[in-house]
Amino acid sequence: MTLLREPDYGTPPRLGAAEVKSVTVQIDGVPVTVPAGTSVMRAAALAGIEIPKLCATDSLEPFGSCRLCLVEIEGRKGTPASCTTPCGADMIVTTHSPRLERLRRGVTELYLSDHSRECQTSDAHSECELAAIAATVGLRDVRYGFEGRNHLDATKDESNPYFTFDPTECIACSRCVRVCDEVQGTFALTIAGRGFDSTVSASAGESFMASECVSCGACVQACPTSALQEKTVITLGPPERTVLTTCAYCGVGCSLRAELRGEEVVRMVPQKAGGANEGHSCVKGRFAWGYASHRDRQLSPMVRESITDPWREVSWDEAISYAASRLSAIQAAHGVRSIGGITSSRCTNEEVFVLQKMIRAAFGNNNVDTCARVCHAPTGYGLSQTFGTSAGTQDFKSVEQADVILLIGANPTDGHPVFGSRMKQALRKGAALVVIDPRRIDLVRSPHIEAAQHLQLHPGSNVAIVNALGHVVVSEGLVDRAFVQQRCEADSFAQWEAFIARPENSPEATEQITGVPVEQVRTAARLYATAPNGAIYYGLGVTEHSQGSTTVMGMANLAMATGNIGRVGVGINPLRGQNNVQGSCDLGSFPHELPGYRHVNNDAARQIFEQKWARTLDPEPGLRIPNMLDAAVAGTYRGLFIQGEDIAQSDPNVKHVKAALAALELLIVQDLFLNETAAFAHVFLPGTSFLEKDGTFTNAERRINRVRPVMEPKCGKQEWQVACELATAMGYPMHYDDGGQIMDEIAATTPTFAGVSFAKLDEAGSLQWPCNAAAPDGTPTMHVDGFVRGKGHFVDTPFVPTDERTSRKFPLILTTGRILSQYNVGAQTRRTPNVQWHSEDVLEIHPHDAQERGIVDGAAVAITSRVGQTVLRARIADRMPQGVVYTTFHYPSSGANIVTTDNSDWATNCPEYKVTAVQVMPTSQAPAVDESLVAVPVQLGMVQR
Ligand code: SF4
Ligand code: SF4
Ligand code: SF4
Ligand code: FES
Repeated sequence: MTLLREPDYGTPPRLGAAEVKSVTVQIDGVPVTVPAGTSVMRAAALAGIEIPKLCATDSLEPFGSCRLCLVEIEGRKGTPASCTTPCGADMIVTTHSPRLERLRRGVTELYLSDHSRECQTSDAHSECELAAIAATVGLRDVRYGFEGRNHLDATKDESNPYFTFDPTECIACSRCVRVCDEVQGTFALTIAGRGFDSTVSASAGESFMASECVSCGACVQACPTSALQEKTVITLGPPERTVLTTCAYCGVGCSLRAELRGEEVVRMVPQKAGGANEGHSCVKGRFAWGYASHRDRQLSPMVRESITDPWREVSWDEAISYAASRLSAIQAAHGVRSIGGITSSRCTNEEVFVLQKMIRAAFGNNNVDTCARVCHAPTGYGLSQTFGTSAGTQDFKSVEQADVILLIGANPTDGHPVFGSRMKQALRKGAALVVIDPRRIDLVRSPHIEAAQHLQLHPGSNVAIVNALGHVVVSEGLVDRAFVQQRCEADSFAQWEAFIARPENSPEATEQITGVPVEQVRTAARLYATAPNGAIYYGLGVTEHSQGSTTVMGMANLAMATGNIGRVGVGINPLRGQNNVQGSCDLGSFPHELPGYRHVNNDAARQIFEQKWARTLDPEPGLRIPNMLDAAVAGTYRGLFIQGEDIAQSDPNVKHVKAALAALELLIVQDLFLNETAAFAHVFLPGTSFLEKDGTFTNAERRINRVRPVMEPKCGKQEWQVACELATAMGYPMHYDDGGQIMDEIAATTPTFAGVSFAKLDEAGSLQWPCNAAAPDGTPTMHVDGFVRGKGHFVDTPFVPTDERTSRKFPLILTTGRILSQYNVGAQTRRTPNVQWHSEDVLEIHPHDAQERGIVDGAAVAITSRVGQTVLRARIADRMPQGVVYTTFHYPSSGANIVTTDNSDWATNCPEYKVTAVQVMPTSQAPAVDESLVAVPVQLGMVQR
């Protein structure tokens, strides 16, 4: 594809309410009909008539400062700005006339007189809109010269690792300031000074790096000149072609335009047409893709007999036949079920589908699991029990229609930043926010945002608080009886109503458990239940608990009881962690479920695959990850294939994980890097980065997005090809020509995907499943006329305290989370300049707890739990309540999971990462540092090997 430029209509659409009338205007003789309130500029652009503009862009409300977009309107005096003038009925507009050209030329000349001449001469500035306008109006030089007072000797700010700010190029149009406010919601920029002295200022005169800026890059994209510019564009030159793809980090699934020059990626630009992100992105998606060409990537397969032997680089053929023969030998000696695999939620749907097929058809068992086991497995279980399907109910856009948002155990501005910005927009427009979280996350209070309630509960008491909310709903007569009667099971509702009304679920009784004052709970419950639209959003702070599944069902009960399900603006919305965790669950990564969440003991479902795959399938569920590890230690599970997961870092009780890995006869790891888990591997198979993959990811709103290859696989093979070759070498031939063929097989075997194909995705951009004959264009909102299971099912949710208790020896609770600049175990983000924001994991500790222990800010502290110890640097912070400490887990050296325990969700075995009893004490030991990563210069953008 040549360089794609998405059209810019100058001002945002005026959409919405059906009652909005249309108006018809004549623009340069062309009749245009638009919704009332549409600007003349937008109407003209829709008719293909371009009006020069500098301060307007269609992601921002009109500002009217540059005076370039002047038009003449019949019957009106003067020359109004078309960006700020709404279309009126029967208006007759002229956009080009000698008078208008003269005025525009004058304005342009003034701008040019204080603008670096480089933009007309340098390649890196070739996208400057001012230069383009100057060329259009025929200006090469300015009459005023450049001798007078100007800004041309102002200093460039190069502090941000990804972009520069050059004041000599700035025309003070304020697009950067407005996009930071209106879209990103960070309010990091202002135009300081007045008149001639007006200048863009980051957080009151600081450098961009030192300011509040979170490096989302929206201002860079919005800047019409090259004042804000990606460093990669300056270094590599302007891009020449585009490949449309999808971010490979979080579950928001932002659509990106990968822009290339020759074979090199020059930059990523979020797609305005992207359904999940509508033109926005965060620092990770926009800038942190250089890891794909990091020198640490292992591009050749390697084998070794024993994990104490050195690695030996081998050909693909040798690696695959070695792996196949050892897997087969293990099965011959220890039985069919002695081997299995783990799929990756970082991989495409196609790669996951093929890997689970390899396990079920070639290995001949159901020993397949995925990293969703350690994050959102309770979502799958809880929502399928209550609603009948294992997925969130809304699209992201739905939050714009929410009146009250209940945010439970999620920190969207760090974990799901683009959705976080969207949520902030809804809050600034008036939605009320209730945060239920032990930690005072940014959304509790940030510029122009103030949560109505922050229920700062004790870690581990989610079920108690959700029950207390339900109790208020029932006891104060806030149940939506009509909805319940029409849409839900009468029996299970009656049982739940009696259960939830019990005194032990009242806010008064649960206050002791949760620590949340009664009135706060009552106010929050009333807010949610009486809102025209109440929406629940949640994250791993809900699922990663011993009662994760119970809380999910408790929230589903709450939504059904209040009628907050089945339309836009409401629903239950899991903010899924990994880019394709939804997809990996959808496509058969669980040991008990075939693709499409059909149980392996379902004969009819199994027959579909048996016919297609010409293989008899095992009707018995296989092993979950924790069971695989236990069985490995016990010696009954001998061979494991791990696709793109670093369980030696990411899974709890690392000591146990490592013991299990060390006990395996054969461990095959497929990854970009030699990770912590690969230290125990006998076969290493190189993987592909998202820039090499050809397939799809499914995001948290069930949106299937295309991932298109920007380059050939650096290791020579797509990951699904490797799985096919391994299966074939084990005696079960598997072959596909391309990713599209795999999707065709998914569609042929999985009813919710029946209408999905690469061709349709290319045409539609993205599709939200279910997409089939009943919903050919996909399904943005689930359960509209009825639940997938028929009637909504209420489940009683008694609170059962976790076994993990504080004691005199372990008096604090450790809970974990993420930060914006890093991602999960950090394998990718640690290999980018994002390390400049977060170079080590630290322990946040309340001032009182710190003082009690003699801990000062920045001191090394030993964190000891019942299973292990690690050392981190302390950061004194009052975001956590007293008695609770917090850390991230982005660096292997920090060993956050050395201290987390084996406790897990009762239904799904999802680990209880969020509650670990610990002691924290000062230590003379230094926190461990990841020498290898610090020593290697981080890479800016894409550098070819
Ligand atoms: S990069 Fe984002 S956060 Fe930073 S100033 Fe620009 S718009 Fe604001
Ligand atoms: S930096 Fe760019 S967007 Fe911001 S005021 Fe200057 S020219 Fe406009
Ligand atoms: S919000 Fe998530 S999907 Fe979007 S750019 Fe950031 S990391 Fe990528
Ligand atoms: S584009 Fe209308 S005033 Fe700037």
